[in-house]
Formats: sequence, C-alpha cells, structure tokens
Amino acid sequence: MGVLITFEGAEGSGKTTQLRMLAAALAQAGYRVVATREPGGTRIGDAIRTLLLDHRRVEISPRAETLLFQAARAQIVDEVIRPALAAGSIVLCDRYADSTLAYQGYGRGQSLDTLKLLGDYATDHLSPTLTIYLDIDVREGLARKRAGAPEEWNRMENLDINFHQRVREGYLALAAAEPARWLVLDATQPIEALHRTILLRVLALLGDFPENLLQMNSGEAERS
Ligand code: TYD
Repeated sequence: MGVLITFEGAEGSGKTTQLRMLAAALAQAGYRVVATREPGGTRIGDAIRTLLLDHRRVEISPRAETLLFQAARAQIVDEVIRPALAAGSIVLCDRYADSTLAYQGYGRGQSLDTLKLLGDYATDHLSPTLTIYLDIDVREGLARKRAGAPEEWNRMENLDINFHQRVREGYLALAAAEPARWLVLDATQPIEALHRTILLRVLALLGDFPENLLQMNSGEAERS
C-alpha cells in the first residue's frame, strides 16, 4: 500500500514547485511516484476545473462551487489516487480536501461540519498521511503569483484580501488541530532549504534514512 502526501498553501506559496522537486527526488531514490493536482487530474476533473476557475463564471453559487470541487475530488480519488496507492506508489497531490475547508469553509464561511461530511464522502474517507503546508503572508503570496504567472490569474484570486487572510488563518487552525499530520513551513525560505526539509520529513515517514541527507542542516526552514 502506498502513501498519500498532500500539498496545501496559498496562491504564490511555491507549493507546486516543491511538489515537483519532491517528486523528482523520490523518483531518483527509486520510489514509484504519482503526482497530481486538484481540481483536475482527470478528464472530468479538468472540465470541472475550467468551470470553476474561469473568471467569467462568477455566477457560480457558493454551494455549487463546493460541490464541484468535491465532484472533481471524488473522481480523482477513484480514478487516480486509490489505484496508485493500491499499486504501492507514493501519491503527491497539489491540494486536497483541506483546500475546501480553508477556502469554502474559513474563506467563504460555509459550515465546517457540512464540508467535512462532504469531504469524507468525496474522498471515501481517504486521508493523507502527511500534509505539507507552505505558509506565506497573503499580500506577498498574491504579489508573487501575479508577477510570476499573470495568465494564471483566476477567479479565486480575484477575491478580496480579507478572504485570503481568512483562508490563511483557516489553514493554520487546521494544522494546529492535527499537528502530527501537518508540516507547516515558512514559504519565504530559500527553495533548496525548503526542499531538503520536505524531503527529509518524507524519507523519515517512509522509514528511509540516507546518511548523506541526514547530515544536512535541514531544520532551518521549519517553523517551530
Ligand atoms: P490553481 O490555479 O490550481 O491555484 P494554485 O496554484 O494556487 O493551486 O487554482 C486552484 C484555486 O481553487 C485556488 O484559488 C484554490 C481554489 N480551491 C478551492 O477554493 N477549493 C478547493 O477545494 C480547491 C481544491 C481549490
């Protein structure tokens, strides 16, 4: 049975870059890795993604938005994640059920209890073993994203700064409630230092302790 590891974070936190670096390092170490993302990762999911993130479709109601994210999630769990785990792969997913709790729950003010029930249904109770959260100041994250990939500027990012602030506070609350599952990292640390910290944590999770990696000073990027 494989292991599910998810990445969470705000726009511009660099989580996608870190996911790719981790995937490459694990593959090089001989692990079978499947990297995917939400919403998307399947044909159904990609179609839902287009609906959700298109800035022209502002008429989507909050409950419809939640259900579309959950529908894309159910599809990726059934079509990609469960089969990959059954085949023994390490599955890295860029966003997962915690995104809905942070954005639709803390951000939009929908009931967390209801969202958790819907999330359990969509994932069929499949929880990540580890969730890596890259924490960044909201304004800095949005500025990074706008500068780095202006063409990716989407409907969610157009929401006001207070929304994104609530999302960040939501993530930190979720992490505090389940510290064993969450690894909270300061996203402003250098990319390589973050990568080393993440890689070490994942290798430890896998029961793999390579001498050369353990000698590196990896704790610098980790928040207490
Ligand atoms: P994406 O372009 O994938 O952004 P990022 O690179 O930040 O992951 O857009 C995903 C957007 O959808 C992002 O603003 C977060 C939002 N989202 C939710 O609001 N709820 C969810 O359940 C998920 C998975 C994403």
